[in-house]
Amino acid sequence: MIVIDIRNPFNSPVYHEETVSSTMEISRKLAVNGAPHGTVITCDFQQNGRGRKAGRSWDMERAVNLPFTILLRYPRLENIPAVITLRAGLAVLFAIEDFAPSLNNQVKIKWPNDILINSKKVAGILCEADSGTVHLGIGVNVAQREFPVDLRGKATSIELAMNNEQRAMNNEQLTFNIEQAKFDLRYVLLEKILIKLHDMLDSEVNKDWRLQLEKRLYKKGEQVVFIEGEADSGKEVKGCLMGIGEHGELLILPDGEKELRSFFSGELKLR
Ligand code: BTN
Repeated sequence: MIVIDIRNPFNSPVYHEETVSSTMEISRKLAVNGAPHGTVITCDFQQNGRGRKAGRSWDMERAVNLPFTILLRYPRLENIPAVITLRAGLAVLFAIEDFAPSLNNQVKIKWPNDILINSKKVAGILCEADSGTVHLGIGVNVAQREFPVDLRGKATSIELAMNNEQRAMNNEQLTFNIEQAKFDLRYVLLEKILIKLHDMLDSEVNKDWRLQLEKRLYKKGEQVVFIEGEADSGKEVKGCLMGIGEHGELLILPDGEKELRSFFSGELKLR
């Protein structure tokens, strides 16, 4: 394990390994060994990267993306920042916009924790907690150019999205190419995410997370199809996505009804 020399506003080390099972596992081991609040573990490749849905893997091409987990210590339950995953999503969104300004206003949050560009997933967040510790796992597709068949049309990377944007502006010469970069851009992005995350998790600084989130909420004010609870629940709700409640719940006005309904778990259908 090496230490990466970037600024971590949590004042803790940022470790890097070439290959790990999952950064979530390493974060747990670091926690057992007494690593401090804000310790980060990133890697080039995960053999068993995990997605949010049970049993789903999270696969990324080696050394061009950014998978990492940050270990957060909250000795008391009430100290865990409210709606930590949604706030982490906002931090990732702001960091991507800062890293790639041409993508401003194109990055959205699909409730509860997918980061999308042009309706395609660019990053995902997995939050796991055990007594006194939260392991916040974040995977950002930075420069991957090809995705497996089952993800085509559903996934993108920052590089692909920037290149599309530049083509749309007829400026082929500006094409972003991570391989030409003189330093590892993944860690420039990581530093930006850590800075935004540190701010976002500070309740004093960030009282208006809901307002900020609603501005970036995928499909806000539009007709949606929502699957309530588990993916195979068969409970489909059609209606207008109205916003986010104070506890991070999704608010939908179902077709033909007069009152908003709140959902704490479930998934928006993409198309
Ligand atoms: C999702 O959208 O389903 C969540 C994806 C989370 C992926 C990240 S990559 C770093 C960390 N380690 C893992 O095994 N998963 C998370």
